[in-house]
Amino acid sequence: MSINPLEYEPRGDKKNSEFFDEYRIKIYERRKSSGLEDLLGTMQAVVVQVEHGEGLAYISELYLMGPYRVTACFQSSTHRVYVLTSQPEYPRLIVLEPLSADYSDEITMFNRLYPLSAAKPNARYIGEVFSTKDVSETRKTLESHNIRFNYHHETKNPFLTGSAIAFTFPSDYTSNRVGYCEHDINDVDALQLGERVELDATTSDTLAKVADFAKQTRIDPLVLGLDHLATRILSGEREDAILEFLTMSNHYFWGAYNISAMNSSTNVTRNGNITDDKHSPAKVFTANNTPSFVNSFENLPMPTEDFVRNYGRRMHHMAYEVVDGDHRSGEKNVDYVVQTLKDKGVAFLAHVVGECVDDPDLKQIFSKHSQYSILITEYVERCHGFDGFFTKTNVAALTAAAGNDERYEHGQVFD
Ligand SMILES: [Fe+2]
Repeated sequence: MSINPLEYEPRGDKKNSEFFDEYRIKIYERRKSSGLEDLLGTMQAVVVQVEHGEGLAYISELYLMGPYRVTACFQSSTHRVYVLTSQPEYPRLIVLEPLSADYSDEITMFNRLYPLSAAKPNARYIGEVFSTKDVSETRKTLESHNIRFNYHHETKNPFLTGSAIAFTFPSDYTSNRVGYCEHDINDVDALQLGERVELDATTSDTLAKVADFAKQTRIDPLVLGLDHLATRILSGEREDAILEFLTMSNHYFWGAYNISAMNSSTNVTRNGNITDDKHSPAKVFTANNTPSFVNSFENLPMPTEDFVRNYGRRMHHMAYEVVDGDHRSGEKNVDYVVQTLKDKGVAFLAHVVGECVDDPDLKQIFSKHSQYSILITEYVERCHGFDGFFTKTNVAALTAAAGNDERYEHGQVFD
């Protein structure tokens, strides 16, 4: 059953302004009247860029930590473009790897501005792609709502302006783009991603070994698709970032909770036309409750504001859902998956949070961020039919763990 955003009452205790509520409704109404609501479908892909020379290492990491496997590979004038698939009905993961070590574009310049992202200036989550019935109509409509799209002269990367996916200019509030595509995502040749290339034997062997490990240890069937994607933004831009995303997508504002222990809020938008988030993952926005300079009066925790100051506004983590149940080892599935990955050398922040003894609850954990994508991987198991999206105590514990790992000391040297 689909959600009617105009009638839906958002959940949560985070206070929103009258401005937010007024424009939230206006945006929903305009999506309907302008036809956008009918044009847009589910999320078809998420796009991540890594440094030159790190594509194979990143994809190996994806093979180990989740369900994505390479199903096609292309080469454009600037990038190797890998298309990875999990379940056919879940979004693809597209990995971009520049062809040369000295590749630089607007993403490189942007990453260089921030102390902790400067070391990997091409590594960034780029954005997500929604299906549309008509890409030019979508673009025309969104441009009339003052959403900017990328033009050829603004970037060297033909993926962003020369493929069959139309991408918006990076958001001033999140730095993420949104793409729109009218082709069936399985028809990869229609996406105009470049010349089709085959993986070389070494790459195929390396990936096959990792895929085998996941099969042997039986973590493979336990880690499902993407559940949500969480972006960190500045305190003062929380409402604008959400409203902008509601303008560009067909998501509805599900609700927002104040995470007072971490001085932040978690704000969730979801696709209302599906019953399984993995078909079109939720987009989550986390913001501090006060800007850092005001926080200096009270010195409350501010891991979210710190993250944005250190890395720039950006995607912080991607969460995979783990099949709910008990593993034959007697642990919950998420504990088994995490222990298997730890034994294989994957680093995690703190431990699995949440209880799943008898009652419906949520168990979650953050990995340490990938050195290739700068993204944390979250694993989430909703136990005993837990039907909520998150719990405040878990979010507080996860945010604290990430904050401890992302601290930047003045003068710190990175390798
Ligand atoms: Fe999360």
